[in-house]
Parts: sequence; C-alpha cells; structure tokens
Amino acid sequence: MLKMFHLIMLMILMQGSLNATLVKGNVVLCFQTRGQRASQVAVETVKKARGVGVIFAQFLTKDIASAFDIPLIQVDYQVGTAILAYTTSTRNPMVQFGSAKTILGELIGPEVAYFSSRGPSSLTPSILKPDITAPGVNILASWSPSVALSSAMGSVNFKIDSGTSMSCPHISGVAALLKSMHPNWSPAAVKSAMVTTANVRDEYGFEMVSEAAPYKQANPFDYGGGHVDPNRAAHPGLVYDMRPSDYVRFLCSMGYNNSAIASMVQQHTPCQHSPKSQLNLNVPSITIPELRGKLSVSRTVTNVGPVTSKYRARVEAPPGVNVTVNPSLLTFNSTVNRLTFKVAFQAKLKVQGRYTFGSLTWEDGTHTVRIPLVVRTMINRFYVNA
Ligand SMILES: *[C@@H]1O[C@H](CO)[C@@H](O)[C@H](O)[C@H]1NC(C)=O
Ligand SMILES: *[C@@H]1O[C@H](CO)[C@@H](O)[C@H](O)[C@H]1NC(C)=O
Ligand SMILES: *[C@@H]1O[C@H](CO)[C@@H](O)[C@H](O)[C@H]1NC(C)=O
Repeated sequence: MLKMFHLIMLMILMQGSLNATLVKGNVVLCFQTRGQRASQVAVETVKKARGVGVIFAQFLTKDIASAFDIPLIQVDYQVGTAILAYTTSTRNPMVQFGSAKTILGELIGPEVAYFSSRGPSSLTPSILKPDITAPGVNILASWSPSVALSSAMGSVNFKIDSGTSMSCPHISGVAALLKSMHPNWSPAAVKSAMVTTANVRDEYGFEMVSEAAPYKQANPFDYGGGHVDPNRAAHPGLVYDMRPSDYVRFLCSMGYNNSAIASMVQQHTPCQHSPKSQLNLNVPSITIPELRGKLSVSRTVTNVGPVTSKYRARVEAPPGVNVTVNPSLLTFNSTVNRLTFKVAFQAKLKVQGRYTFGSLTWEDGTHTVRIPLVVRTMINRFYVNA
C-alpha cells in the first residue's frame, strides 16, 4: 500500500513558525541547524501545521527509533542535499510512503551513540568515566501500559527505546550473571571483570567509532573499557578488586570530613591523607589528568583464574608518553594470589598536551586483562583560553 505526497522544503523550523497553508497535507524536508537539533521538534511543528510527514536531514546518520503520529525519516546531510536538489529540479516533487519492512543482514559493530555521556569526569578527573558501554540504541523493552506513547498509538506493553535506561539493564544483567557464577566476588571484582574483558574493536577488527559530526574513532572517554562481552567477563583471569577501606580513602580524598564519612560507613574511620589516593584507587583504568615530568601509580591484581599462572605485561603507551611496568611479569601460585605492580609514566613531549590514550594488558596465553591508560601532559598550570 503506497501513498504519494507532495514534498516541500522549509528552512526555518522554530516551534510554531510554519505557514500552515503551505504545509497542510504535505511532507516537509527539514535540515538540522544549530538552534534546532531535535527531529522531535520538527515533527511536532509539522504536525501542528497539519503536515503529513517529515524528512529530517542531520549530522548523525543513526536512525534512533521514535514513536510519532506522523512518519519521520532521518537521513544524513548528503542524502538530504540530494533530496533538496530533487525538490528544486522538478515542479511537483513527490514522496511515496509504503508499509514498514524488516531488513535482516550483517550486524553493524558497536558504535557509541551521540547521546551517551562522555568523559572526563569534571569532579574526579583521575577516575576514568565512563566505565564501560553496552547496547542502548533501539532496544525492544517492556513499557508501562499506563504511559501512552502518543495519542495515535494508545497504551502498549512494549516499546523500542534508546538511552542509558536501556543500556543499564544490560550491564545489570551481566553483573547478576557474574555474581551468580562467582558468589564471593565483590562489586569491584564484578565491575573489573566486565571492564577488562570489554571489546574496543568490532567483530571485523575495526576500531569502535563514536558519533560526532559525523564520526570519529572512539576512545576511553567514549566507551571506558569498551563494549561489554559477558562470555569473556565470566572468566577474566585477574581482577582489580577493592575493599570498603579503598572507598573510604577515596571519600577522604574528595574532601569529606571524618564525621561525614563516619555517618556513611557507620563507624569511626579517620582519614589518612595521601596526595595519590585518587590516582592509586584500584580501579581497572589509569587516568592522569596532569602529567608533569614523571609519575608512578600502583595497582593490585587478584588471580581468579588457574591457581598457578604467569602473566606478562603488554603496554600500548599513549602517544607522547613513556610507560614502564614493574614488575612486568606476575607469578601466582597457591600462596600468592594478589600482586601489586607500579606503572611509571614520563612525558616525552615538552608541550602542553591533549589527552592521549593507550592500554596496559596482562596476558597469560589464555586471558587478556586490559585496562585503558589516559594521560594529559602539562608543563604549566592549566590556563583556560578565552
Ligand atoms: C563535616 O561536613 C558536614 C557536611 O559537609 C558539615 O555539616 C559538618 O559541619 C562538618 N563537620 C566538621 C567537624 O567540620
Ligand atoms: C609462591 O611464590 C612465592 C614467591 O615467588 C614463593 O615464595 C612461594 O614459595 C611459592 N609458593 C608455592 C607453594 O610454590
Ligand atoms: C623513553 O623510552 C625510551 C626507550 O625505553 C628511551 O630510550 C627514552 O630515553 C625514553 N624517553 C624519556 C623522555 O624518558
């Protein structure tokens, strides 16, 4: 069943700014501008002017499914410009709508969606954020029937939705799976298992990309450790574990006073001040927001794989930085299951740098325990350029 409609092109699409006589019964081609980023606004405006559909040309090619009362097609600028050329080359430009089709084919590797929040963390720049990424675009999920999607669709039990609220259940589900397989693992161990086994490449070996304008190679500020891989997370080999006392040291470093911390942990825990307590927090990543000259940080790994194992360090140094790991060989046996190592960083560049990215991977021939390294070299105090 195909329907034909007239296509018109209108530049300005501020809310309520459409000429209703022009729009009524037509499909509107709309280009995303700085002031008007969301296709949703375009759809609402066209609908109010009694238009029948929207073609929305935008920076991002990703088609985020949305439920609207009138059809919305999202295209990139290249396709949008081709459609624009068509509207101006013919006296009577037409659009044809058909019913929806399901297209099955090759999977597209994970990409970081534009709306996914990005690092660094402004509150704690030496703790990498985000930690990890998980599926969160166009997820078929249950939905409360008491919340109508739109006036036309009424109440539904399922909906396709996108966002943190969609990727969070994936991560929670993987955490629950790991906890049921390893009941004695701490929350930090569960998190470490997911982060150190996450993928930074897709199944064809391509580096993950991040939606920008239009695309860039993704880095740990987009995906943290990478895209979660539940099968590998079940057998991480080593974990970066933490105890309650590690969290207390972190809270102290954040400037909470003794009484505030005591009220959180329900016992008297005086703070010990250490300038490196944030850098040395045993998270499965190392982030140095201000590297001047040399700096060394420490981490501790716990063996959760075969009791007797040997791991060798493999470093991919961030550009502009020398990285050495000591010791670079970790030997675990029945009496030694936790080992501490140091990672020394030295700036090679004598310039105020940008953030650069690398990785440290422990390998025993079976397990690959990878953490991101994030470094920004500095020579002077940080000045904001006006
Ligand atoms: C500790 O911090 C809390 C919350 O910020 C504040 O209300 C309290 O006065 C502080 N106590 C001391 C002893 O500084
Ligand atoms: C485990 O390794 C440590 C350090 O190398 C060594 O001192 C200890 O004897 C070893 N234990 C066993 C049971 O082999
Ligand atoms: C970096 O490491 C290389 C090789 O280990 C060494 O030759 C070089 O001097 C180091 N540079 C700095 C600035 O430490």
